[in-house]
Amino acid sequence: MTDQPQVVDRQVRVGWPAAVTSSRLEADDPRSLGWPVADRTDVPRETGVLAPPARTRILAVANQKGGVGKTTTTVNIAAALAQSGQRVLVVDLDPQGNASTALAVDHTEGTPGVYDAVVEGKHVREVVREAPHLPGLVVVPASIDLAGAEIDLVSLVARESRLHRALTAYLSEQADEGHRFDYVFIDCPPSLGLLTLNALVAAAEILVPIQCEYYALEGVGQLMRTVDMVRAHLNPKLAVSTILLTMHDARTRLSAGVADEVRAHFPDQVLRTTIPRSVRISEAPSHQQTVLTYDAGSTGALSYLEAARELAARAPGLEGAA
Ligand SMILES: Nc1ncnc2c1ncn2[C@@H]1O[C@H](COP(=O)(O)OP(=O)(O)OP(=O)(O)O)[C@@H](O)[C@H]1O
Ligand SMILES: [Mg+2]
Repeated sequence: MTDQPQVVDRQVRVGWPAAVTSSRLEADDPRSLGWPVADRTDVPRETGVLAPPARTRILAVANQKGGVGKTTTTVNIAAALAQSGQRVLVVDLDPQGNASTALAVDHTEGTPGVYDAVVEGKHVREVVREAPHLPGLVVVPASIDLAGAEIDLVSLVARESRLHRALTAYLSEQADEGHRFDYVFIDCPPSLGLLTLNALVAAAEILVPIQCEYYALEGVGQLMRTVDMVRAHLNPKLAVSTILLTMHDARTRLSAGVADEVRAHFPDQVLRTTIPRSVRISEAPSHQQTVLTYDAGSTGALSYLEAARELAARAPGLEGAA
């Protein structure tokens, strides 16, 4: 990043809560975050300016360990970016359909969704839905029908790259029509099967949520070996660009110890922002909401806003993004 913050073609004024835009940004160096707030006189103190990426960034949110915050991270970072004016696509690639639930998109059995696109070859355009509470956020829902995909995919041609093909066709069509997506997040299931493999082939970046608990790094080695294999044979662009520490409990030494250990292993990938354990975050999906809309002023919402902003500013995978 140059010393002078870049002014981009499309600048989006963002209604970040005051706590995020003023005090926290002043505490950090806004240039190091890529947020040209303090240096700009034409931007009110209480707003931020979020530059869209030069090219669409496609991130697979993956960790084969269950319940570490993949879905929570997907929907809340996607919502934070959409609220900041970015055009965001969320692909729910988990038969549990939790991301579809949190984004209030119908995914009852038989609803057209990612299964139809990946297995049946239907155009993604025919299965996408707008998230009702979040303008700018579009969802490819997953219903329980997707549970059969792992088996159905086995006999198909190019079984690892079906999602890549489907997404590429949709994203380029949207760009041609003047509706370029800025971000795509693919919420992976808790396994390293064919669905996750499809996500790793379709993405340029991986976002790995790691829960701040004992055994946190167990399984991460296996994920990294899978990434190496995908990079060697299927998708040389793929990079583990971002790691987010989730469910951090500041009161426990265990959380702090795990966070230190993960940062020591992955010094360049771990976001400075950690997501605290928060009742509001866990309540939001039962109201078919993200925490950003459910309780915008909560610490959970603020930390996801900050994580999204950090992710946007780091723009690590741009040279490899689609
Ligand atoms: N920061 C948090 N504070 C409190 N609860 C959280 C937090 N993040 C996630 N949770 C809760 O933890 C549970 C697991 O989170 P989530 O569903 O996002 O994980 P996951 O990795 O997607 O799970 P799976 O592997 O089953 O797909 C959920 O009930 C969620 O509401
Ligand atoms: Mg999940």
